[in-house]
Amino acid sequence: ALPFGDGKPAMGFNTWNAFRTDINEKQIMKIADLMVSLGLRDAGYTYLNLDDAWSEKQRVGGKLVANKERFPSGIKALADYVHSKGLKFGIYGDAGTMTCALYPGSLGYEEVDAQTFAEWGVDYLKYDNCFAKREDWVLDRYRAMGEALNKTGRPIFYSLCNWGVMEPWLWAPQIGHSWRITEDILPTWDNVVKLLDYSVGLSRLAGKGIGHHDMDMLYVGNDHLGEYHPYGPFYQEHKMHFALWALMKSPLMVGHDLRRINQSSLDLLLNKEIIAINQDELGVPGDLIWQQGTRRIFAAPLTGGARAVVMANFQTTQTQYPMSNVTVYWEQLGLRRDQAAGVRDIYGGQDLGVFRGSFSAAIATHDVAVLRIAPLEGPTNDGWRPWHGQ
Ligand code: DGJ
Repeated sequence: ALPFGDGKPAMGFNTWNAFRTDINEKQIMKIADLMVSLGLRDAGYTYLNLDDAWSEKQRVGGKLVANKERFPSGIKALADYVHSKGLKFGIYGDAGTMTCALYPGSLGYEEVDAQTFAEWGVDYLKYDNCFAKREDWVLDRYRAMGEALNKTGRPIFYSLCNWGVMEPWLWAPQIGHSWRITEDILPTWDNVVKLLDYSVGLSRLAGKGIGHHDMDMLYVGNDHLGEYHPYGPFYQEHKMHFALWALMKSPLMVGHDLRRINQSSLDLLLNKEIIAINQDELGVPGDLIWQQGTRRIFAAPLTGGARAVVMANFQTTQTQYPMSNVTVYWEQLGLRRDQAAGVRDIYGGQDLGVFRGSFSAAIATHDVAVLRIAPLEGPTNDGWRPWHGQ
């Protein structure tokens, strides 16, 4: 990828999951205020990104202009406000003739639009993939905007929203800083599981110095995730969603209306140790390392030789036995079997002690145990194999 900042997965807020096309400047300013007052900015969520529907339906003098009714003060003023809060400002465009919500696309207008964005003080561009003809090759369309952004001289994070394209990791790292590997996320358990399945086996193709697989924006806080959960609380599914997006080094883009977020969801998003896994210096994405039936283990190596491990129970059960036992063996983590390692339960906020060879836990249905397994001495990452069988 083009060099950008610290090369870590982007963190911030995006309007789409919470508001769809119903966005306006007052609401965005309020979100900016809340990102600060709720502690999200200081936890690392620095981008505040507009999604589709911020512009007029027609260009004016060949340029994109802010929607007069919903953004009467203009985008520059909004970007200035966002910057004054110590946040970065992101915008949305499309690599076809129209955006998905039928606003003007940037195909053929890459340079003038990139220039407009730079003049407004944009720090991040999400570039969507609606209304493009098959003969206009995706790589050319995305490269054209990448080159136009570079020409402006302003560092702008380039987030490719290349949904619908097979194997984007083959070309996207040369062009942008992250790329979508899934279709749009929905706030349902089945969909979260499906997007996780897409991500398996891809950890070698992304990471620090390459760029990041984008598993799409977060639905942490949304009441529909967990709606059919037989045991009531939605909370487990949100824990799994957040921990695994973090572990896979997906961008962490909050997608819930911050004016209405509940405390437990906010606490999840603010969990420093989960964020630290996502933003770890080593920058190696996690991957599936073991699966049997509905029990799965995902893991990633961390700076300094520790491992982040997510043990998950994907079973939907109607029985009175919602717990499932999961064991992770040191060999699966590329550690020596006799190595003594400290095990920390991250969501539990507890050090569980020193273990050798393996660690077991009972995991409730649709829940996870997120562990930090840190060998006490002598480990390296040499033995790390992201996905057995490859
Ligand atoms: C499709 C993208 O994948 C979504 O994230 C969102 O940006 C919509 N388009 C907006 O129309």
